[in-house]
Amino acid sequence: MLIAQISDPHVRPAGQLYQGVVDSNRMFGEAIQHLHRLDCRPDLVLLTGDLVDEGKPEEYAAARGLLSALAIPYLVIPGNHDHRDNFRAAFADHAYLPAEGALHYCIDEHPMRIVALDSCVPGHHYGDVGADGLAWLQRTLEANPQKPTLLMLHHPPFFSGIPYMDSYRYMEPEPLAAIVRSFENIEVVLCGHVHRAMLRRWAGTVVCSCPSSTTEIALRLAADAAPASYLGPPACMLHLWDEFHGLISHLSHIGKAEGPYPFF
Ligand SMILES: [Fe+2]
Repeated sequence: MLIAQISDPHVRPAGQLYQGVVDSNRMFGEAIQHLHRLDCRPDLVLLTGDLVDEGKPEEYAAARGLLSALAIPYLVIPGNHDHRDNFRAAFADHAYLPAEGALHYCIDEHPMRIVALDSCVPGHHYGDVGADGLAWLQRTLEANPQKPTLLMLHHPPFFSGIPYMDSYRYMEPEPLAAIVRSFENIEVVLCGHVHRAMLRRWAGTVVCSCPSSTTEIALRLAADAAPASYLGPPACMLHLWDEFHGLISHLSHIGKAEGPYPFF
């Protein structure tokens, strides 16, 4: 099974630029076409939050318009720039999304079980699933502790080392880690939010964050670093799974690179 992950497109109302600078809608469209041009068509696409920038209905209308070009089934989770109720309304045809409350869900129809956590705290940018989310996760994982499982949530449960991102981090990861650690079938935890590819050993599994299809957060590690972003390079992730080889995650840059040359 090939699972593509696109994150943090920050779609704007049609005709408006992200931060007044970047045509995030065009770039999201290019990310979708990038998936269609791969030599193996992904079986499923995961959109790991910040689908839009300000949570507005007109942004979701633009996002759905762009997603109408996507010829692959996809699953969505919200990010801190999404608005829970507007998000739910925009994806009312996605029957896996719960009708009320946090947008946690589980999809059991694929070779990997996909468990999605809504880590958004309405009105805030930091992440937390709360006591109800933890209880839901415990119940959901207990229902099938054998099947290989992919867990996804917008906020990575780790310190990135980039100080201006860590002020919006997943605030109290230890209760979440305690649950994840007790299930050996969690192959990976996939996140967005940090607009960069990062990898960390965590709670007996691996956490992997996906770059944004729009902007890259600057890699500044100094404690007093000023926040900054770069316009690219945009990228997505491709997660290849089979029972025998396990899960291998690839970074896939969107856009043209020189080549191909006949060497490897
Ligand atoms: Fe984002």
